[in-house]
Amino acid sequence: MTPHLLLGQTLAFTGDPFLQPWEDCASHHAHGGVLIEHGRIAAVGDGAMLRAAHPQARVTDHGGDLILPGFVDAHMHYPQTRIIASWGKRLIDWLNAYTFPEEMRFADPAYAATIAGETLDLALAHGTTTLCSFCTIHEASVDALFDAAATRGMRIVAGRTCMDRDTAPPGLRDTAQSAHDESARLIARWHGRGRATYAITPRFSPTSTEAQLDALGALWAANPTCLMQTHLSEQTDEIEWVRGLYPNARDYLDTYESHGLLGPRAVFGHVIHLEPRESDRLAEVGAAAVHCPTSNTFIGSGLFDLAGLKARGATVALATDTGGGSSFSMLRTMAAAYEVAQLRGQALHPSQLLWLASEGSARALHLQGTIGTLSPGAEADLAVLDLASTPAIAQRHARATDIWEALFPTIMMGDDRAIRATWVAGRPVPRPTRSGAA
Ligand code: GUN
Ligand code: ZN
Repeated sequence: MTPHLLLGQTLAFTGDPFLQPWEDCASHHAHGGVLIEHGRIAAVGDGAMLRAAHPQARVTDHGGDLILPGFVDAHMHYPQTRIIASWGKRLIDWLNAYTFPEEMRFADPAYAATIAGETLDLALAHGTTTLCSFCTIHEASVDALFDAAATRGMRIVAGRTCMDRDTAPPGLRDTAQSAHDESARLIARWHGRGRATYAITPRFSPTSTEAQLDALGALWAANPTCLMQTHLSEQTDEIEWVRGLYPNARDYLDTYESHGLLGPRAVFGHVIHLEPRESDRLAEVGAAAVHCPTSNTFIGSGLFDLAGLKARGATVALATDTGGGSSFSMLRTMAAAYEVAQLRGQALHPSQLLWLASEGSARALHLQGTIGTLSPGAEADLAVLDLASTPAIAQRHARATDIWEALFPTIMMGDDRAIRATWVAGRPVPRPTRSGAA
């Protein structure tokens, strides 16, 4: 296979900007290049030097556009694509009014296939090359997403959402046994096949019985390379609800921990209103806390304590949480993370925002070195950004004196118009047609 050389600006992390001064954490080439061979990154460096060293390579010249690793969205719900931006509710009412009725439609495998494809195409158009998604209780909803990802060559993490308590509506309820058995079948069918990772997925403690959490804990113990994803401490009403349902638990995290659902491959969404024991325990175990800032403001959940969790050494990732989140864009999500941090008196540097949306999320999904990084050996999933994609961004970008200042207006004001190209496993993704534009 002929190697492919992408020319453009490149920006690659060499360290973690939460642990080291940001000036020491990244390598920027104004005229850089990324050499792709067999779907992987073979080299990153000065464009002219790479061109001279690989005269046989096909060349795609992105000019002044910025080549980055594709974004990694560490927590989202593909079945909620059609209910994004649904008005006026907080978490529990929002679930009952919008989410559960929509998730019931996924009993139809054809509907699931349609939404799976649409969601992945939206993600790619926004420069997101990997999603970690909840599905519904329907086994076919999981097949639909893994199938759609395989068709597009995408690396994906997903799992069948499990709910067996009478707090979930009758049409969306399973049992401890069926949740275990169907999840086990899906693991056998998909986990480690191509670019797929299975995540065992109890929705959250309020919709599972202890018997179901036990069954899923046992399933995870039997399949330890799977991830486990769920929700933790998103709204204060929800935490009160958990306290009533689990009177013997020390705290919300304990409802998972005491059933074998806490470990380094656990990925918890939201994680806002924590007791000190919970923050310490997450950090100690190496489980991931996923920041979902557009959702946390949209549903009115609260302000994630990024600095506090990082100071404890916790693994933190970034995610859209669509459709609770109000955007498919990881650029918009970075902007929201910046705004939330400002409200907590913390100024996040653009390097920290970008790191969370790429390397941080990849680490949380135990895919570090594989995706979310511009480094040799990684899979060639890339997002190419136009740093002047709208007049408002362009006029601010024109004043920039370094790459971070050049990138920050796109982080704060950018959306899918800033995504010039997306590459998956070394291949360019066909450009989306803008439906509804005519
Ligand atoms: N908690 C339990 N289920 C959900 C969900 O679908 N979205 C959000 N944001 N929180 C949840
Ligand atoms: Zn969620």
